[in-house]
Amino acid sequence: MTDTGTNIAKGLEGVLFTESKLTFINGAEGILMHLGIPIQEWAEKSTFEELSLALLDGELPTAEELARFDADLRANRAIPDQLVQIIRDMPKGIHPMQALRTAVSYLGLLDPQAEEITPEARRAISIRLIAQFSTVIAAINRAQEGQEIIAPRADLTHAGNYLYMLTGKEPTPEQARLFDIALVLHADHGMNASTFTAIATGSTLSDMYSCMTSAIGALKGPLHGGANEAVMDMLDEIGTLDKAEAYITKKLDNKEKIMGVGHRVYKNFDPRSRVLRDYAEHVATKEGKSDYYQILEAIEKIIVDRIGSKGIYPNVDFYSGTVYSDLGIKKEYFTPIFALARISGWCASVMEYARDNRLLRPDAVYTGAKDAHYVEIQDRK
Ligand code: ACO
Repeated sequence: MTDTGTNIAKGLEGVLFTESKLTFINGAEGILMHLGIPIQEWAEKSTFEELSLALLDGELPTAEELARFDADLRANRAIPDQLVQIIRDMPKGIHPMQALRTAVSYLGLLDPQAEEITPEARRAISIRLIAQFSTVIAAINRAQEGQEIIAPRADLTHAGNYLYMLTGKEPTPEQARLFDIALVLHADHGMNASTFTAIATGSTLSDMYSCMTSAIGALKGPLHGGANEAVMDMLDEIGTLDKAEAYITKKLDNKEKIMGVGHRVYKNFDPRSRVLRDYAEHVATKEGKSDYYQILEAIEKIIVDRIGSKGIYPNVDFYSGTVYSDLGIKKEYFTPIFALARISGWCASVMEYARDNRLLRPDAVYTGAKDAHYVEIQDRK
């Protein structure tokens, strides 16, 4: 530790530690791009599979490359029976992120290539991880609810297969596409805490499973994943549309935070929340607007009118909970779903940093004593 310098970047805010070609964010203007392509275009024209491959390889794939990657994902969906049994035997009532952390770590024990850190090995492991995260999370969800674990199907898309493994029913094309878009929107988001954690672990030349297990631990905390769960709690508390205005107005008058609005980076609409709102509205209009959705619309209007001028707008978590809930996903699983999408960004970021690796080792200003001496234990007060 150093004793010089007072410019501490608390929370590493504004600290640049590497270069990346994956994701660009302009919070003031509400812009998010992957490989220079706006998130709106990824959501409209692409799929989670394609964005995952583009992030891993740093470029848009050809049709042939995408077909091969998609086939690899489908072929790698199944998880070993030994892990299925571990998931069945996990204590009931645990946090699903605890279960995911243990399952992914265990998955590493069963992968003979786990300890290899060449670029080729990291890429091959990333494909298996992206494919198997989905199976592991669905299996945890069902096992925790005392239901039979459902094996993956190779004839469904990545998003469609997850919903199938979760519910046992094949989703409609609209449901599968809506979930796919939610995965696209969450696949990467620059140097957030979990991505940084994955990179920090990778910078020690540790293996991919350790990187992902570290990242899951970082995402588990309520300051990172978990805000969309809080939005659902708020909606449950409000209950019905007629109570929304009074509830939000009272909170704002009392200077309390409204969940799902505001963002450290975005001081305008979070572009992901716009995309999600539009698709959620499409499905809601087709299948009838859920009460949750109507309450959110009412809250958004009040927020924009009252505190939009402070740069506080709905963030991605504002609508994602309702979308997930309408798809049959319970709120305890919102953070694992975040991981299900972000695994692509984690793997891609670890691989990108590894190309020009330097051990991450920041410093702190030492503010402790310098003139102390060891005191024998019996002489201490
Ligand atoms: N509800 C009401 N007012 C808010 C909110 C909110 N959610 N967020 C900020 N404000 C107000 C503040 O009270 C402050 O008002 P003031 O100037 O009158 O004192 C002003 O807006 C600026 O707020 P800051 O706290 O400086 O904004 P900051 O960038 O630090 O906060 C944060 C960002 C932590 C995300 C905050 O907006 C928040 O707690 N939001 C709710 C939780 C949430 O949705 N988190 C998910 C973020 S997205 C993600 O992680 C994927």
